[in-house]
Amino acid sequence: MITLKKKFSDSYNFVFNKTVMMRVDLNVPINDGKITDSTRISKIVPTILKLLEQKAKIIIVTHLGRPKGDWNDDFSLSILIKEIESLTKKKVFFFKNNIKSVKRQDINEKFKVNDLVLLENIRFYPEEEKNEEKFVKKLSSFADIFINECFSCSHRAHASISGVPKFLPSFPGKLLENEILNLKNLFLVKNENEGVAVFGGSKISTKIKLIEFYARKFSKVLVGGAMANTILYAKGLNIGTSLHEKRMAQFCDNLIKEFREKILLPIDAIVVDKKFTSSPEVKLIEKIDKNDMIVDIGPQSRMLFYNELLKTNTLLWNGPLGLFERKPFDEGTEYVLGAVRSNKNKNFFSVAGGGDTISILNKVNCFNDFSFVSTGGGAFLEFVQGASMPGLTSLNH
Ligand code: 3PG
Repeated sequence: MITLKKKFSDSYNFVFNKTVMMRVDLNVPINDGKITDSTRISKIVPTILKLLEQKAKIIIVTHLGRPKGDWNDDFSLSILIKEIESLTKKKVFFFKNNIKSVKRQDINEKFKVNDLVLLENIRFYPEEEKNEEKFVKKLSSFADIFINECFSCSHRAHASISGVPKFLPSFPGKLLENEILNLKNLFLVKNENEGVAVFGGSKISTKIKLIEFYARKFSKVLVGGAMANTILYAKGLNIGTSLHEKRMAQFCDNLIKEFREKILLPIDAIVVDKKFTSSPEVKLIEKIDKNDMIVDIGPQSRMLFYNELLKTNTLLWNGPLGLFERKPFDEGTEYVLGAVRSNKNKNFFSVAGGGDTISILNKVNCFNDFSFVSTGGGAFLEFVQGASMPGLTSLNH
């Protein structure tokens, strides 16, 4: 696990009256041209306000989506301006011009009548993902200090993340610092009879290492969603037409043989036919037949998972246990999440993150039941399995 050598507060001596480039992750979910979850914006507000208090001029840099190095209006940051202004109560200048042909002065002038300058989507430049040195130098030339406030992108070796700290004095932001402070608690679990991890979602190929990591580290790993289907399939059980990844069967077979006692799978499920025309039915896993499609964990599995969560002192949660986006197949996830509120153990510490986990928690109104909810997607999954992250290592140098 990487620890940070610097603190956000170390930057206070350096940012007074200076221009600060703040790399944030405002890659927020958008549907029908509207932001559907502003958590990532609200989470950076304390850092912005603290820096403004120190009279810093802040250039905000972020990406949105994956425009693949092309200028594409569908990924323009114009959609973020109102929300940033409303959450910070500050005036934002949206700097739309191509930064490759502007000078530091062109940006600095905007601070005369604005509090913050937001650069256009940094992924409109192909040099960003390639981490090209000329581009890194150009970016760095706009500011005196760099703040990495994007824990959730720190697994990317991109120009605005791991490149700029090579040329500017750099510090972690408050949010990044807080992420690491909290997530490191997962690594304090030393006894493998402690700790429960819950992993859901569709693709086990993206989480098999994570499952293995926590099967070694924690007392139990509970698996739901289509990921569990792949393991059930690998065990030779009939899963009908349920979503699964055939190519992962061998890996899953090895995994389940090694951690038979630790990995808990659903023992029953809610099934429908593959066109969703039949009424949902509860079936024991061994009774699933060729026309059934698993869409959620069943009542016995909910109880089994719930009870595991009630006992533990440390919990890591990632992903949904069923077809969460389609009602009523969110009920299994919601039921088991209820145990986080009910767990009254004195030192209970619970962490959630990765993928769409924030939206899931918000949807069932249990965000605040967790001790900590990470803003990280892929970065969260990397960090919690102890992987090195370029954005963090470059901050330490
Ligand atoms: C995220 O949403 O997890 C981050 O913004 C990283 O996005 P990326 O996977 O496109 O790099």
